[in-house]
Amino acid sequence: MMDMKACYDTLRERKEKFGGLYFFTEPIFMPVDIDLIKNIMSKDFAHFQGHGFTFNEKYDPLSAHLFNLEGEKWKNMRVKLSPTFTSGKMKYMFKTLLDCGGPMIDHLNGICEKKEEVDIKEILACYTTDIIGSCAFGLECNSFKDPDAEFRTNGQTLRKYPPVPILNRVCSSDYKIPNTDIILPTGTKVFISSLGIHRNEEYYPDPMKFDPERFTDENKASRSNYTWMPFAEGPRICIGLRFGLMQAKTGLSMLLNNYRILPGKNETYDMEIDPQNFVLSKNGTVMLRLEKLST
Ligand code: HEM
Repeated sequence: MMDMKACYDTLRERKEKFGGLYFFTEPIFMPVDIDLIKNIMSKDFAHFQGHGFTFNEKYDPLSAHLFNLEGEKWKNMRVKLSPTFTSGKMKYMFKTLLDCGGPMIDHLNGICEKKEEVDIKEILACYTTDIIGSCAFGLECNSFKDPDAEFRTNGQTLRKYPPVPILNRVCSSDYKIPNTDIILPTGTKVFISSLGIHRNEEYYPDPMKFDPERFTDENKASRSNYTWMPFAEGPRICIGLRFGLMQAKTGLSMLLNNYRILPGKNETYDMEIDPQNFVLSKNGTVMLRLEKLST
């Protein structure tokens, strides 16, 4: 994924609006121009409806999930699933998020008493596992009691570290690239480097600086929506966006409400990316020291 960012950067430095690359033996179209990206994701969505992953519904029915589906089947499933995330249902699920936070705080209190450091990546993986288990399957995963419990997931980190650093599409019918004579043939895979866009100094000067002020209403209004796409954009935008944000905010508030958070003694803030992970994730642990706040 860092290689894809390098491709995006090269095209951008050459002031190209788009370009091509090979992913193994497959030719890939990479748009750079933000208006072209907007067209592909939203205005001309009819040409780019799917992710282009191969799956076999007959022999592996579970592979026919929303992310993989295309065309009418995708549309019908999306319409069926969208009501899962209405405000009313989210309010109901909020209680579950708080319930799942309880065991996390109990676990951290124990670590605090022993004055040990904690790998926050591991803690948040357990927290999100418990939430998915409870909200999606009605199961108590008890990840804090049984750290080897099965379901694991990583969340977090949006502009600098979008968990999905490449948004992919496949061209489902020939597409004439606007203001050119070039036709993108049906079947062409498209990679949009959200990581490249998020670290483009044209949109975010001094891109590696963590600066929440970039997200004031005024600053947000000064740039295209398509310059911040951790959840993608357009009709295929992440269906769990509001739930994901609510989960992250709840977990963070519970941590900040209970602890003063300090870096571990040997924590270097080295954000080297794990090359083995499909989702953008820091290599190794993130060690923190927590000091219990008096209530
Ligand atoms: C911080 C957390 C999350 C991030 C950063 C994230 C990001 C994304 C991204 C980038 C996509 C691809 C969209 C595209 O290609 O256009 C996606 C799709 C999807 N996400 Fe999420 N997601 C998060 C949390 C969740 C949660 C909590 C759920 C479910 C409860 C969820 C369910 C889905 C589904 C079902 C899709 C496929 C949507 C479709 O193809 O119509 N996501 N997500």
